[in-house]
Amino acid sequence: MPKWAHLGLAVLLSISTTLVGAAEIDWWENASLYQIYPRSFQDSDGDGIGDLKGITSRLSYLKEIGITATWLSPIFTSPMSDFGYDISNFYDIDPIFGTLDDFDALIVEAKSLGVKIILDFVPNHSSDENEWFEKSVNREDGYDDFYMWDDGKLNEETGEREPPSNWVSVFSGPMWTWNEKRQQFFLHQFQVKQPDLNFTNPMVREHMLDVLKFWLDRGVDGFRIDAVPHIYEHRNADGSYPDEPVSGWGSDPNAYDYHDHIYTKDQPATVDLMYEWREFLDNYRAQNGGESRVLLAEAYSSVETLSAYFGNSTHQGTQLPMNFQLMYLSGYSTAEDVVGSIDYWMNTMWKEHQTANWVVGNHDTNRVADRMGAHKVDLLNVIVNALPGASVTYYGEEIGMSNVDVECTGDSCEDRDGERTPMQWTAGKNADFSDGESTWLPLSPEYQRYNVQTERGVSRSSLNIFKGLQALKSSAAFMAFKDDGGFSYEAVTKQVLQIIRTNKISEEYRILVNMGNDIEILDGLASKTYEYVLATAYSTHYPGQKADLSARIILMPYEAVVLRWLA
Ligand code: NOJ
Ligand code: MG
Repeated sequence: MPKWAHLGLAVLLSISTTLVGAAEIDWWENASLYQIYPRSFQDSDGDGIGDLKGITSRLSYLKEIGITATWLSPIFTSPMSDFGYDISNFYDIDPIFGTLDDFDALIVEAKSLGVKIILDFVPNHSSDENEWFEKSVNREDGYDDFYMWDDGKLNEETGEREPPSNWVSVFSGPMWTWNEKRQQFFLHQFQVKQPDLNFTNPMVREHMLDVLKFWLDRGVDGFRIDAVPHIYEHRNADGSYPDEPVSGWGSDPNAYDYHDHIYTKDQPATVDLMYEWREFLDNYRAQNGGESRVLLAEAYSSVETLSAYFGNSTHQGTQLPMNFQLMYLSGYSTAEDVVGSIDYWMNTMWKEHQTANWVVGNHDTNRVADRMGAHKVDLLNVIVNALPGASVTYYGEEIGMSNVDVECTGDSCEDRDGERTPMQWTAGKNADFSDGESTWLPLSPEYQRYNVQTERGVSRSSLNIFKGLQALKSSAAFMAFKDDGGFSYEAVTKQVLQIIRTNKISEEYRILVNMGNDIEILDGLASKTYEYVLATAYSTHYPGQKADLSARIILMPYEAVVLRWLA
């Protein structure tokens, strides 16, 4: 029973149901979030790499397509060994992206448009070129224990020092690297150039709160926290580090999956850290006013762990522990598989906390067109926006961008380049991403067909479907989504997913998605007559047409439709 049920039906019908729903939920709970990879969104100075001024000039586009908040991958000073996930100064903007003044201008424009800005917060590690690390190498006062240092083990036979444990880094190879100058090993869960900060040191935690405050003071609405599971490592009482057991996966001991990461992932202290950061943000809001500041957590962890990061009855943690389940779907996934992926989240997170979020993709994963097939891009967009909660779109998924085969040269090979290519704005030179001679990654050879400008003019383009979905997402039936029975989902056949959203009074939507490549015939699906409000490219129907669900509805292969019933 929703909290407002006591108002009574008559009152409810007389006031805007949008307001009723909206009063129930905080902005992030039903937000449409959008990830920008700053190198690839818009270049303003012709160097072929995207920048802040470029992003600012495109913020009105985010407004146009119905985005609530955008999170920017790192824009801070960095040698770019991991394209900004290796930060050498947490308090400044990298010159490639611009200046602090440019950032302030971006915030001003975002506020005037009503688009919220979320920054990437990378607490687990810094760049080895950060002055903190240099000070730590030199054992300067206060910085001695800033990173994870250890003597390692002495091999009696060879007389040489060996790493303290058998731990392997996420990017493969040992997690410990010898530092000649300090004559100790340091720990890095990712690249050698990304030494892990020591979160058992209260000074480190304080520095990180200071970083959060610095950007909150500049007006940001929240943070996406990078690599949450990797923040703490287990240490024995005697100061040694325990070896991790083998997992049974693969045969290369230097590969990440070879071990079970029971001592280097999701340690109990990480949960408390999430509470600490949330409290910090909530206090900041209490003192400074404004709307909720949010924390998104990047954690490839079990749903039980994500639930702990979200919080419990006494502690609140990160509002949006990102749900990556739908990223594991493939071209072969059936509607039943989709239901299984949705269940995985809903059975725990929804049951316990009535919260949901659905990530479509990110800069570490192949694009939907490559994971599932180009004809399924719209289907996934329909699903994530029809389900209750927040949706998280990776830039370009709204126009159906696909991975680009990027030729690998020398050391600069990065197997994640394919999903990081420039945004496709128009069919003109460099897709209007840059007016420079070349772009840092090649444009998709498909950009003349798949771009914002062209798709604005095609009624059933991915872009227009996406926009239609955003409009629905903020409608009454989609807003009133707490534990009031206002939605359900099921596979009505092996290949057809049905999602129902309703305010239970005057409005009901049925979203039907045919995941398969056969025509699906559904008889007697419901007792009422509906109206098409949205139909994807493979549909033979058009908005405004009637659908009597007590009779028969036919779905073409890969067709998705949104049907509405009005009292
Ligand atoms: C996760 C980020 O998404 C990825 O791009 C990065 O390489 C690692 N964290 C390390 O920061
Ligand atoms: Mg760590």
